[in-house]
Amino acid sequence: MESVKSIGEILECPDLEQNAGKPGIESVKGDLIFNQVCYRHENKSYNAVKDFSLKVSAGETIALVGASGSGKSTLMQLLIGFIRPQQGTIHVDGHDMNAIDLRTYRSAETECPQPDHSRPHNLCGGPSSHDDS
Ligand SMILES: Nc1ncnc2c1ncn2[C@@H]1O[C@H](COP(=O)(O)OP(=O)(O)O)[C@@H](O)[C@H]1O
Ligand SMILES: [Mg+2]
Repeated sequence: MESVKSIGEILECPDLEQNAGKPGIESVKGDLIFNQVCYRHENKSYNAVKDFSLKVSAGETIALVGASGSGKSTLMQLLIGFIRPQQGTIHVDGHDMNAIDLRTYRSAETECPQPDHSRPHNLCGGPSSHDDS
């Protein structure tokens, strides 16, 4: 988590990320729309993400499943705003991610309203697989 913060700090440097003048957001409800998003990493001859569209409603839980190299991490980087779509758009709660101050977005999106004790249940497959003793 510390490394994510450090990368964020570097990317939020004004030379790299244009946040000035863009409105901030106070909270993230969680409505997401990826619309025909494409991303090709530097020095690659193919797109890591190609024409990717997805709609996720606030409160909905989804899993990205795919083989190694299929683009899951790239999608997460796009969602966090560490990289920008080269084609297509990403909307969060109706805001185009290009049009908002991503610093406020990131501080809002890292909030985790779940109580700590529920985590083992989520990660280990439900209450029956969790031993509280
Ligand atoms: N920083 C990067 N520079 C160049 N290519 C990358 C980089 N990150 C990922 N890729 C390439 O993008 C494709 C998707 O990778 P990735 O998003 O990491 O997939 P996954 O998380 O599903 O394993 C792969 O072909 C990978 O080699
Ligand atoms: Mg990955």
